Amino acid sequence: MADWSDFIQQIKRQNDIVDVIGSYLELRRSGANFMARCPFHGEKTPSFNVNRNLQIYKCFGCGESGDVIKFVEKYESCSFAEACEILAKRAGIPMPESSSSGEDREFRERKKKRDVYLNICRDTARFYYRAYYGEVGKVARDYMTKRGFDEATVKKFGIGYSPDGYSLVDHLRSKGYSTDDCIKCGVLQQTQRGVTDALSGRLIVPIFNMQGQVIAFGGRGLDDYTISRGKYKNTSDTPLFTKKDNLFAINIAKEQKQHSALPNLVVVEGYMDVIAMYQGGFKGAVASMGTSLTEQQAKWLSRLSDTVYICYDGDSAGQKATVRGLDILDRAGLEVRVMSVPEKLDPDEYIKKYGSEAFDKLIDEAMPLPDYKLKLLADAFPIDSADSARRNNALPKYVKGALTMLRALDDVRQARYITAVSVKTGYSEDYFRRKLSQNDADVSETEEYGVSPEDKAKYFIAACILRGESYASIEDKPLCNSKFLSDLYDYLFDCKAQGVKPSMDMLYTVCPDAAPEQYAEIIDIGFDKDKEINERYFRECRRLVTVEKLKRKRDELMKQIKDNPEDGSLLERLSELSKKIADVR
Ligand code: CTP
Ligand code: MN
Repeated sequence: MADWSDFIQQIKRQNDIVDVIGSYLELRRSGANFMARCPFHGEKTPSFNVNRNLQIYKCFGCGESGDVIKFVEKYESCSFAEACEILAKRAGIPMPESSSSGEDREFRERKKKRDVYLNICRDTARFYYRAYYGEVGKVARDYMTKRGFDEATVKKFGIGYSPDGYSLVDHLRSKGYSTDDCIKCGVLQQTQRGVTDALSGRLIVPIFNMQGQVIAFGGRGLDDYTISRGKYKNTSDTPLFTKKDNLFAINIAKEQKQHSALPNLVVVEGYMDVIAMYQGGFKGAVASMGTSLTEQQAKWLSRLSDTVYICYDGDSAGQKATVRGLDILDRAGLEVRVMSVPEKLDPDEYIKKYGSEAFDKLIDEAMPLPDYKLKLLADAFPIDSADSARRNNALPKYVKGALTMLRALDDVRQARYITAVSVKTGYSEDYFRRKLSQNDADVSETEEYGVSPEDKAKYFIAACILRGESYASIEDKPLCNSKFLSDLYDYLFDCKAQGVKPSMDMLYTVCPDAAPEQYAEIIDIGFDKDKEINERYFRECRRLVTVEKLKRKRDELMKQIKDNPEDGSLLERLSELSKKIADVR
């Protein structure tokens, strides 16, 4: 690897850091140093310092520092190798050639081909752009105007128009490109009617890479016939472009970052969402182009920011698929914030309907990923439902989902969210900790901690009485199928009979040999801040245990009736009991 380290030394020698940074930023001399406004954090007074003797830069505002290669890497949001290549090119240094091996030659061939494809894409974009502003392009211009896009925005994105199937073919031929190359980079296609423009008759949205080169196109249908064959059609996967691995408008987000003007990096689904956001003042939007996020996309994003806002359409098909994509971002070390756009609108529609300020508010209200997952869980399993049967049915499923969520978190966040989930569910923190310490393999639904809804209700009632809540009173002892519950209620009713206040501190005394998680069921119960909610929940619980007790009586009665079918009084009691059960319900 001697070659490579020589190469790096050469790059550094021949790229003076002041010259290089000076070509990106406005540098001002200040004694032995040069100063600028730091490109890596927004600031008004310059604290970004470049030193020619030491060949380093350092920002006294944000602490960012390094050599010339590091600067290019950061500023261009590229990899180390790419930064070396940029600097080598700048200084006219040839890239190291370890040997003239077959592999090397193949690499150079591929690179040459890549340049040809890039040229084809660039010339195609220019062709579309001219067509858009020409006579044929009126239909496309009218369309964009009707959607409320102004000319500056349309120009910024290099919007174009494909007039028909053949004009582009002729144009590219006249430029001397081989049809084969044009097909390989996806702009032309082979059909039964010969070679045609792959996006003919569509409004064209060019897609750029991080370096600002055109690599592909999205084409929106403007008339019913074209739309019937796909509202959007995109350049197929080529050596330059894979839809799932690229992000539309990543070049613009990068540009914003270079101007220290990227406060929020927002990922949306569609081209038009990005464009509408730009026009509305949100210039850090990129589009995943309709698909679930991939690791490569996560890499692009993490070069630009530590935090990513996700703003998917409210009606997004399969929120599960979305969450999988978000987990990928999370695993890439990005802080994920999920926005929710009301009324199933997409960002474009929302901004047009409610304006930028309202959209700003949605950004402010974005949820951290774990909270978002809990929200999805609560939507699916309504643990706050007023209907206790629904709530009790939902609870174990919610808990199971919450465990899955918790398992994906690092220790610090896990500790925080265990508390949150415990409060929400009433399950003890200890229960979650225990579950999480077990192996994934032995966590199954059937062996889920077996507390029935009725028992849960009994714990809650007891906790309310122990806390001395004013509303907490019951008439008779519920069914108790554990010694712990039985001892506990005996104590509570003793206190009632003697007219003394029961106390939480007595728990260990009156129930001396219960298991730790049984105590926890009482001690760790989550109470809402809102007293009224607790009271409502208390009444639900009381109803639940009353029904349980009545049902048990009914079961016993039915057994008796089976043995004495002639006994009319038993039947009478049964009908009375059934009526009572119906009433309580
Ligand atoms: N998409 C696609 N092919 C389709 C439909 C959608 O590639 N047939 C991608 C496009 O990148 C599109 C994104 O998925 O921008 C989101 O799709 P959708 O929400 O349907 O489109 P919008 O962006 O809302 O488009 P418009 O506002 O123009 O209707
Ligand atoms: Mn839309």
